[in-house]
Amino acid sequence: MAGMAVATVSTGLRIGTLELSSRVLIAPMVGITDAPLRELVSELGAGLVSTEMVAAEAVVREVGAALELLDCRGGTSPVAAQLVGCDPQVMAAAARICVARGASLVDVNLGCPVPRVVNRGSGAALARDVAATARVLGAMVEAVSVPVTAKMRLGWDHHTINAPELARALQDVGVAAVTVHGRTRCQRYQGLADWSEIARVKESVDIPVIGSGDVDDVRVLRMRVRAGMVDGAVIARGMLGNLWFVHQAVQHLATGALIADQPFADRIALTERHLEMLCAYYGDTRALRIGRKYVAWTIKGCSGAARLRAEVQHMDTREHLRWILDQARAAGPAPTGHFQPVFTSGEG
Ligand SMILES: Cc1cc2nc3c(=O)[nH]c(=O)nc-3n(C[C@H](O)[C@H](O)[C@H](O)COP(=O)(O)O)c2cc1C
Repeated sequence: MAGMAVATVSTGLRIGTLELSSRVLIAPMVGITDAPLRELVSELGAGLVSTEMVAAEAVVREVGAALELLDCRGGTSPVAAQLVGCDPQVMAAAARICVARGASLVDVNLGCPVPRVVNRGSGAALARDVAATARVLGAMVEAVSVPVTAKMRLGWDHHTINAPELARALQDVGVAAVTVHGRTRCQRYQGLADWSEIARVKESVDIPVIGSGDVDDVRVLRMRVRAGMVDGAVIARGMLGNLWFVHQAVQHLATGALIADQPFADRIALTERHLEMLCAYYGDTRALRIGRKYVAWTIKGCSGAARLRAEVQHMDTREHLRWILDQARAAGPAPTGHFQPVFTSGEG
């Protein structure tokens, strides 16, 4: 980055009419960014949180599970509701329902790589057709008064990079910001995200550009924002098993302060709190099933974790949860330090 002009940046970010308190946002993630998680990362300072992607067709048919995912109440940060689909009328109608359910903005998933989505012409498949995508987003902008945004990949593959052109077309129909995941659809989650390509999108439009991909280092993140490569960034896999990273990123971006990693006991306490919030939201039975992955990711950082992981697989009472966390606390941190789960698949 030597020689690159360093701009001063304000703490917050404006997306359409929405003022965000931080440039650190939370990425949509299927199976992860539910209401309790969103509330917790709001407390840690995230400027914007997001639902996972929800199929617009299921929303307009009022399928209970889809509507439940769009429960945008609670939490202190504004909430983006993310939709996936390709029919302008259906997407517009679904956007209205998102707003009725409390969404502060409506986002469209244009990056989902999975066959069940792209084979229906949605996600990354829709993004291949710039005009069709602009028609969908234009209809949504017309339908709601909250900002409409889009999350895209760089292109379908390295020969068809179209993110700058797509972002311009979306800006022209009134889209308020774009998030760019610096990989192609064909890369899925392989290789490193290309932030120089994300910066090319930023050069192509006037609306805010949010970067996505491998956000796991607060210094690198701040450097990219200060250099003007992006207006903000979304944290995704970088916070799994270590939600404290959100607080570290928010603080570092705002003030330059480097907040220490959490002591192991505090990390366990944060997971315990997350599980309590899940129980309050879903009831114990469902919450303890959903919460197993969070406990497994947390205790994987402790000495002798393999023995405890088997316990987590059938953790179904609060007593069992407490026992597992007590054992982990007593064992202490592993010499290898913080563990981060690796996903080679995902929906965006
Ligand atoms: C488990 C998982 C689920 C995801 N679900 C979504 C989703 O619902 N919508 C979306 O736009 N992106 C989704 N993504 C993509 C992330 O939002 C993010 O763009 C991607 O993981 C790259 O960031 P990272 O390298 O920092 O993880 C998902 C990713 C993962 C790992």
